[in-house]
Amino acid sequence: MSSVKSVVELSEVIKTFHRGDEAVSVLKGVSLSISHGESVAVVGPSGSGKSTLLNIIGTLDHPSSGSVTIDGEQVHEMNELALADFRNQRLGFIFQSHHLLPQCTVLENVLVPTLASRDPRVLESAAERAPALLKRVGLDHRMGHRPSQLSGGECQRVAVVRALINQPKLLLADEPTGALDSQSADGLSELLLELNREDGVTLIVVTHSIALAKQMGRTLELSDGALPAPLRA
Ligand SMILES: Nc1ncnc2c1ncn2[C@@H]1O[C@H](COP(=O)(O)OP(=O)(O)OP(=O)(O)O)[C@@H](O)[C@H]1O
Ligand SMILES: [Mg+2]
Repeated sequence: MSSVKSVVELSEVIKTFHRGDEAVSVLKGVSLSISHGESVAVVGPSGSGKSTLLNIIGTLDHPSSGSVTIDGEQVHEMNELALADFRNQRLGFIFQSHHLLPQCTVLENVLVPTLASRDPRVLESAAERAPALLKRVGLDHRMGHRPSQLSGGECQRVAVVRALINQPKLLLADEPTGALDSQSADGLSELLLELNREDGVTLIVVTHSIALAKQMGRTLELSDGALPAPLRA
């Protein structure tokens, strides 16, 4: 299953949570391969393990067993410090709630992921890129505003720019439109799809939206902790 073009390779990933004496088996042997530039929807009923899978791909959680290779790195073997660097440099995250810092401006929020870099040139080039990215999502005129002055959809677009600021190889989104009204949700979906189409950003989106899933290149359906045959290849 190994391929140099893969940005995500999971092999026989098992995830079991332990609650007291009880073991909850969530992922029961998930193998998948996602190539650079793909757009993939992850669907399935509530509790089927979509967020767990996305968190494992995003190195925010560890598999109980199995291997996880992201952008060529065997992340299941890396320590927490190396993982934090890896996440920061190569992955972008968008969640259902934007998690913007309320006391910071839009521009400052967008630059937060660059602050961990020890290289001042990284911050410098990000500071140059940020206004252009904000312009692209139609928010360049709101750079000095705080999140409380923005709508939910606007905040989520800021979160997209924040996820892109370090030019990640892989963009991971967990129900990014879940908290938005339908018009804002459509706008955000269109933005994500455009980033995939025009910039070649590899995109994995957990979504309950059938309309969004249909627009993605491929849909993975989690069922009983596994990925049966693809819905659409
Ligand atoms: N840290 C944890 N400890 C124990 N159980 C957990 C933990 N995280 C998730 N689970 C359990 O794992 C199962 C899958 O959860 P997960 O959040 O991945 O589902 P989901 O498909 O994202 O659901 P939703 O659509 O509601 O967001 C659930 O039964 C959940 O209770
Ligand atoms: Mg979830």
